[in-house]
Amino acid sequence: MNDRISSNLQPEAVRQSRAVEQLVAGQATSDGDGVKLTRVLTQALQRRLDPFLMLDAFGTDNPGDYIGGFPDHPHRGFETISYMLAGRMRHRDSAGNEGLLQPGGVQWMTAGRGVIHSELPEQDSGAMEGFQLWLNLAAKDKLRAPWYRDVQSAEIPEFTTAEGVKVRVIAGASHDVAGAMQRETTEPLYLDVHLPAGSTFSQTLPAHFNAFVYVYRGDITIGERSVPQQRMAILQNRDDADGVMLQATSASRLLLIAGQPLNEPIAQYGPFVMNTQQEIVEAVKDFQAGRLGGADMEYASTVEH
Ligand code: CO
Repeated sequence: MNDRISSNLQPEAVRQSRAVEQLVAGQATSDGDGVKLTRVLTQALQRRLDPFLMLDAFGTDNPGDYIGGFPDHPHRGFETISYMLAGRMRHRDSAGNEGLLQPGGVQWMTAGRGVIHSELPEQDSGAMEGFQLWLNLAAKDKLRAPWYRDVQSAEIPEFTTAEGVKVRVIAGASHDVAGAMQRETTEPLYLDVHLPAGSTFSQTLPAHFNAFVYVYRGDITIGERSVPQQRMAILQNRDDADGVMLQATSASRLLLIAGQPLNEPIAQYGPFVMNTQQEIVEAVKDFQAGRLGGADMEYASTVEH
C-alpha cells in the first residue's frame, strides 16, 4: 500500500456541493451461469449517466449464488472494470490473457473490436463480493485493439484524510493523488471511499461530468438527502456546483464514480454497445462467423450467448 498522510494532501475544497437528483435501488437479476446480482445502473439510465453503461453489484456468502460464474461470452465497443471486495475469480480471454481477480484488485478490460472471455470463481465456498462497471468507448475507439490489465490491490494508490477517511483511487485523481488507471476522452474518476461515522469527504467534479455514488456499507447524507445502504445517488449536474460533499451517518463505504459524457448515440444488444443498429448487426455477424476475438475459433465455438 502507498498510504499517504493527510498533511501531504492537497485539500479539495468544494464551495457548492451537487445535490442528489434521484435515488436508485437497482434490479435483482442474474447473469452468466446463474450468478445473482443487483443491476444498479440499468439500460434506462445509460443516457443520463453517459459514459457509464452498467453497474452490477454482487455480494453473497452462498456459493450457489455465484458458483456458475460467467462462462465464455463476447464483448465489443466498451470497457469492463471489475472490482473485487471478497473472493477470487479467474479470467481468461480470446486474446490469450489470463489473470486472477483477488480481493481489493481491479481488472480493466478494453473490449474494443472484440473479446470473448470467461470469469469463473476460483473457490467453492466463502464470500464473493464486488462490482462490474461498463464504461463506454467513443465512436473513434470502439474498434481499437482489445486491451487488458490486472491491477493488484497493492497497486491501487490510497490516501487517508485528516478525518480518517480512506480513499482508494482506482481511476482518475483525488486530492492530488493519481489513480491506478487514467483514460482519455471519458476521463473516469473511480474512488472507493471508507468513511468513519460522522466524517465528511469532499471531491471536486467538473460540472458537466455525470456522477453518482453507490453506498455499499452504512449510510450517508448528501446535502439534506440521506442515502441508505445499497442505493445509488445520481448527482445533479449544476453549473454552480464544483463537486460533492459526503457525510457519513454511520461508518460507511461507497463508490464515487464520475466521467465526461460522450454525447454519442448508444445502440446496445446484450454484450455489444455501438453507435448504430447497423454496427450491432455487424457485431453479431462477426461473432457468429468467429471473427470476434480474433482467430480463436475454439473460444467462439463454446460460447453460450
Ligand atoms: Co464479460
